[in-house]
Amino acid sequence: MKAQQAKTVTKGDWKVTMTPDDVYRNPMEIAWTFDYALGRGKVEDLYRRAKQNQWDSDEILPWSTPVDPSKPLVSDRSSLFYQMPFFNKLSKSQRETFTAHSTAQLLSQFLHGEQGALMTAACVTHSVPDATAKFYAATQTMDEARHVEVYSKYCDKIAMVYPMSPWLKALIDATLKSDRYEKVMIGMNMIVEGLALGAFNNMYHSTTCPLLKAITFNVMRDESRHVSFGHAYLGPVIAKLDEAAREDLAEFAFNAVNIIVQSMKASDGQSLASRADPGFMEVLANSGIDADDFFAGLEEAAALGITQELPPGQIHSLKDLMLPAIARVGLITPTVRKKYEEVGIPISEDVHILNAMEGGNPQAMAAE
Ligand SMILES: [Fe+2]
Ligand SMILES: [Fe+2]
Repeated sequence: MKAQQAKTVTKGDWKVTMTPDDVYRNPMEIAWTFDYALGRGKVEDLYRRAKQNQWDSDEILPWSTPVDPSKPLVSDRSSLFYQMPFFNKLSKSQRETFTAHSTAQLLSQFLHGEQGALMTAACVTHSVPDATAKFYAATQTMDEARHVEVYSKYCDKIAMVYPMSPWLKALIDATLKSDRYEKVMIGMNMIVEGLALGAFNNMYHSTTCPLLKAITFNVMRDESRHVSFGHAYLGPVIAKLDEAAREDLAEFAFNAVNIIVQSMKASDGQSLASRADPGFMEVLANSGIDADDFFAGLEEAAALGITQELPPGQIHSLKDLMLPAIARVGLITPTVRKKYEEVGIPISEDVHILNAMEGGNPQAMAAE
């Protein structure tokens, strides 16, 4: 393959550098099918729901809403950082600048992650062997294109875009480079979308911007179908696999979850705060906050138990969505259970929040 040149993409004054690693081949098999009959199960229901619930962002979103990027887009009480003693010693303007930039960094992950979802959904469309699943995956591909579009337009409004966090890129790259459609669905429909659904829920409940709230509400309704698909299609497929094939998928799921957990250790999985994330270090620099002081403040908060408490109305993606989704389809085997224990990831199998989110009603999710 011809070597790619690194190049820089700009959004206003903001620059995101692309590298040669951003173009690669995947080893996936493409599967034709000549059985075009739709099944009558949950996957067909999801396909019908997807057809009925397509939406045009130009028509239904209030794009004329004024957005002031210098003001925080989320309420103080929903922020982990506002609970840190260190953070409350900063000046009001420094806190506001940090909140504006850290929110922009999070929204940038929504944007880049949605592009990953767009490509994985397309990948499932051509690799899954079942016609109904192909139809469904095609609707998800359209959903994801719409999600990239809306978050890109919103990032234009705030005129800030941060680079993709290395762990999120590594996670989606591992998914796209995998050799089986089952792994793509595990990586995307269970793990990345579990993470995203939790993050969208938290953004929906914490944002003070009516436009961002409306965007997130509509995106979440689509995402709840995407997470349901992982279970509805893959559950029966995994149940029929032999032990070695199931172990291979369980191992893939563990490695994907571990990428997230190791990267978010500093804040107990609640924020992007990490020294290993150049984007987050840029957030600190743009806010005039010394990195050593910040991370000492985060350690102090962890010692006080603050990082383990969820702000009001928030859910924990790993505990409430991702792990229950993995456990539900039988991918916590005795072998990988030991691996989760070794790295200190508690297995949670309680599916009640996952079920509520899959119901697709963010108002109901608020009650959780
Ligand atoms: Fe999406
Ligand atoms: Fe999605």
